[in-house]
Amino acid sequence: MENNLKYFIITLGCQMNKSDSERIAAMLEKRGYQPAAKEADADLIIMNTCSVRQSAMDRVFGLAKNLTEIKKKNPRLKTVLTGCVLPEDFKKTQKMFDYILSIKNLAQWPEYFGQEQFFQAFDMTQKDCSYFNQKPKYSNSYSVFIPISNGCSNFCSYCAVPYTRGPLVLRSHKEIMIEAENAINNGAKEIWLLGQNVNDYNDKGINFAKLLKMINELPGNFWIRFTSPHPKEFTSEMIEAIARSKKMTPYFNLPMQSGDDEVLSRMRRSYKIGEYKSLVKRIRAAFSSQRQGLEKELALSTDIITGYPGETRDQYISTLKAMEEVGYDMAYIAKYSPRPGTVSSWLPDNVSQKEKDTRWKYLTQLLEKTALAKNKKFVDETIEVLIDEQRKDVILGKSRHFKTVKIRLPKDSNENFTGQFVKAKITAALPWGLEGDLA
Ligand code: 5AD
Ligand code: SF4
Repeated sequence: MENNLKYFIITLGCQMNKSDSERIAAMLEKRGYQPAAKEADADLIIMNTCSVRQSAMDRVFGLAKNLTEIKKKNPRLKTVLTGCVLPEDFKKTQKMFDYILSIKNLAQWPEYFGQEQFFQAFDMTQKDCSYFNQKPKYSNSYSVFIPISNGCSNFCSYCAVPYTRGPLVLRSHKEIMIEAENAINNGAKEIWLLGQNVNDYNDKGINFAKLLKMINELPGNFWIRFTSPHPKEFTSEMIEAIARSKKMTPYFNLPMQSGDDEVLSRMRRSYKIGEYKSLVKRIRAAFSSQRQGLEKELALSTDIITGYPGETRDQYISTLKAMEEVGYDMAYIAKYSPRPGTVSSWLPDNVSQKEKDTRWKYLTQLLEKTALAKNKKFVDETIEVLIDEQRKDVILGKSRHFKTVKIRLPKDSNENFTGQFVKAKITAALPWGLEGDLA
């Protein structure tokens, strides 16, 4: 079925949005749309946006202006805004797009396209993630995103997700298993289990620990990764499952957000920093007792927000100290950005931009130090790397510890390595990655 129409998707934000875009693409192609090479060639442009920080929405407003220009050249062009849109931005963006559509109603999109315009206020109470049943068009077949849940019911004070994606809705474990099996049969080397809060997963007695074990037992040579867990309710069963499931890579992200109890409490994070640190110790101990060689060492990343309303210098220093003590391999450090409608948006955003910049700079400098120290442990080791990019004389990919590895290729090499596991001998460590030679 070809309809002579071309689509182009712009995706902002996290892996969940990237995964959603794969379902949008598949739905459109089923209805005859063809992918466009660039925005200017498209008859349908879909902006799949993010609301976690204001900067992403600012990009939407910027891009919306370009869309008006492209429209002048192609009057057939229709534009869609979807993804994580806050109710406040819904009103502002109506004049800029032809359609504003909830991803949860993906199956109905073609009906809406029959109308001149359609704006659908996202129904936050909609407890449905049946759009996951749309078979995706994976961006690549070797590293595959599999959503296990949608939304979040935690309402951390600063976070837009409960207002954009709605309450936590679980995907059935049977569907997840079918998607994982299919992906592996089609050559997937890496499975990413996605959810805003994976350890809240429990479908008919199958909790996240059990789900992980079931995927680990699927035959095949593949890695398992997931993102993201919440430090609360990180049970012993989960720790055991992660450490014992050998296909689970020794890396994950464990958001800390702040190293200060008072800030954590105001963020509604429901753990104290002492509890977070002892959780990390228990997880590290489990890896060290269950695994061999380099696998004993867990690589950990985190999310930090700096400049939360009322965060004092001392409280920021507590975060600096906690980061140093945990010793992260990587951290996603964000400057606090008020999101309209969230609990903390009512608090004055009273840490100045200059102060946020300074705190961010020192947190990043510390990270550079701990990340480099962690990376040095890999020098002279031979490690497995899943290649995702091939250039003229180098290939790049990620190791099991989620390190970016740059590998020099021999001069006469004309093999295609993308999507393959290769072995690399590490020769140098940098703060943000490793370098090596093909082993
Ligand atoms: N301001 C800054 N960072 C935020 N994050 C979420 N909401 C905000 C906000 N309002 C960060 C958190 C979260 C990550 C996905 O984005 O650290 O874990
Ligand atoms: Fe947002 Fe908190 Fe839910 Fe994570 S757990 S998505 S930070 S509300």
